Amino acid sequence: MAYETLLVETRGNVGLITLNRPQALNALNSTVLKELKLAYAAFHADDAIGAIVLTGSERAFAAGADIKEMQPLDFAEVYKSDFISGWDEIAKARKPIIAAVSGFALGGGCELAMLCDFIIASETAKFGQPEITLGVIPGIGGSQRLTRAVGKAKAMDLILTGRMMDAAEAERAGLVSRVVAPERLLDEAMEAATKIASLSRPSVLMAKEAVSRAFETTLEEGLRFERRLFQSLFATEDQKEGMAAFIEKRKPAFKNR
Ligand code: CAA
Repeated sequence: MAYETLLVETRGNVGLITLNRPQALNALNSTVLKELKLAYAAFHADDAIGAIVLTGSERAFAAGADIKEMQPLDFAEVYKSDFISGWDEIAKARKPIIAAVSGFALGGGCELAMLCDFIIASETAKFGQPEITLGVIPGIGGSQRLTRAVGKAKAMDLILTGRMMDAAEAERAGLVSRVVAPERLLDEAMEAATKIASLSRPSVLMAKEAVSRAFETTLEEGLRFERRLFQSLFATEDQKEGMAAFIEKRKPAFKNR
């Protein structure tokens, strides 16, 4: 299918989505949201795809929600349509999604990266929640996900001042998992996604579910949830195969069942 705001392709067992609104630094408008949901749904329906990479351009991952689209909206409109709520669907996607971030990841762009499972950043990446400078606050989870990722002090600093942090600061703060040279960014993300896609699908999905649960529940409940998932994996053929392959000093041949 042809997309207006995205480039979508399959590389091996990985789905690659590139935000493509260069004239607006990949600002996130309603078409981007609609198309991202379609692209994600297509990759989820495709059994061959084991992981997804979401990226932008060298200059911008995404510079936020589209300010030109939002500026004329009034309260009744945004309240009635529950404006901006649709992005949460992306966080509920079951297959792992890696954000490969170069350049600006601001406002909704930073929030979109945080909706992914982890962020690999180029040395040029700049993260921030500048909504306060527009007379609003983050609306796609920035105040919640950034706070969980980097703690109260830095989240308050970024959200109240609207300042940007560079990739090194974002890595120190725990927002990004790796920082790489700009020319390595896509390869690094694709290699990580390809590795994930080569592993047993049930265990990958459950690992994502287990880590995600840590942000939603108590430690005791989370530990119980993890243990039940762990136990259930002993019902899979891939658990037998993975452990047998280790013992026999060979590569496992996972069947995703
Ligand atoms: N929405 C709409 N258009 C945007 C945009 C955005 N978020 N960010 C950039 N653009 C557009 C600019 O308007 C400009 O278009 P024109 O050439 O037609 O004027 C084009 O992209 C290039 O941008 P600049 O000329 O501003 O580029 P720059 O290099 O001078 O500055 C920047 C780059 C610092 C990222 C600057 O563009 C900027 O500050 N952008 C806005 C960042 C922002 O405030 N994001 C938060 C949005 S609100 C939000 O996201 C709410 C939420 O949580 C849901």
